[in-house]
Amino acid sequence: MKRKRILTGDRPTGRLHIGHYFGSLKKRLELQENPEYDPFILIADVQALTDNFNNPEKVRKNVREVAIDYLSVGIDPNKTTIYIQSMIPETAELTIYYSNLVTIARLQRNPTVKTEIAQKKDLFGESVTYGFLGYPVSQAADITTFEGELVPVGEDQLPLIEQCREIVRKFNSIYGEGVLKEPQAVLSSAKRIKGLDGNEKMGKSLGNAIYLSDSEEEITKKVMSAVTDPNRIKKDDLGNPDVCMVAYYHNLFTSKEDVKAVCEECKAGKRGCVACKKQLAKNIIEELRPIREKRAYYEAHPEEVDKILIEGTERARKVARETMKKVKDAMMLNYFE
Ligand code: TRP
Ligand code: SF4
Repeated sequence: MKRKRILTGDRPTGRLHIGHYFGSLKKRLELQENPEYDPFILIADVQALTDNFNNPEKVRKNVREVAIDYLSVGIDPNKTTIYIQSMIPETAELTIYYSNLVTIARLQRNPTVKTEIAQKKDLFGESVTYGFLGYPVSQAADITTFEGELVPVGEDQLPLIEQCREIVRKFNSIYGEGVLKEPQAVLSSAKRIKGLDGNEKMGKSLGNAIYLSDSEEEITKKVMSAVTDPNRIKKDDLGNPDVCMVAYYHNLFTSKEDVKAVCEECKAGKRGCVACKKQLAKNIIEELRPIREKRAYYEAHPEEVDKILIEGTERARKVARETMKKVKDAMMLNYFE
């Protein structure tokens, strides 16, 4: 049986944090163990450049960081093909052909793109670049280059998958039914993790994230600054764990019984916030220890990381060439054959 290809990826604009861990990495670890699937992970450097074109060093540096993050959490290059987007010219080529099949108005209506443009006023001012507006087209090419069937994503990415499906249908209706495969989004059940400050989103620019690569000291420092119940001033004030970010993170990193004790003691005014935070920091440090250790290994062996990326990219290119052949045949671009 032919295995179903799964496409996922990240923009390499920073190291990955525990929001990524609970949001997508755990899901990818689970999927790579299923023999029905053939997972691909792309490090989306071309897409990262759409809003970091003026900062190529940042993108370049983070390609390696993100690759090390993947390997450190246990993405296994023997089961998952990890590749660098810019090293697949077929994807760029497909993007050009697809750009005829989508209107500017449709891209401007894409809710994900719309939100992002609003957030990036500093970069784009009043007029967004052609490349950024068109990144859904390039993402459609990412997926279809590999005949991706399943795309596990968070809710914010759904409009991009829908746009990809529209492009595929349009392509097939013009150039031949069944040439391209229409992908399906799989909504990862994992929830979005809030930042240490209670912000809905965890991110570098917000300074509220714990990175998989953070040292023990950094983790402790960040946890000590997390937002707690603001009405609790003295230790014997009755607390409300429902409004405390420390309690929220205990739910992710602390055993069920201990979480119960945390909440009960907090509500009864029998628990100090400092001790509560120290306990949490210790649990996060323990849970991330194996990841930190693997990271240290790969940091000390950059040639192994290179080899994994080169081999993944080679495998990806083979598949990309096959798809390109089909596309060019369908589009009558197969001259002199
Ligand atoms: N847009 C995705 C993100 O920002 C990254 C990405 C690029 C992607 N190409 C993809 C995800 C293809 C899934 C499939 O996280
Ligand atoms: Fe939060 Fe713990 Fe303080 Fe309660 S005791 S407010 S759960 S940090």
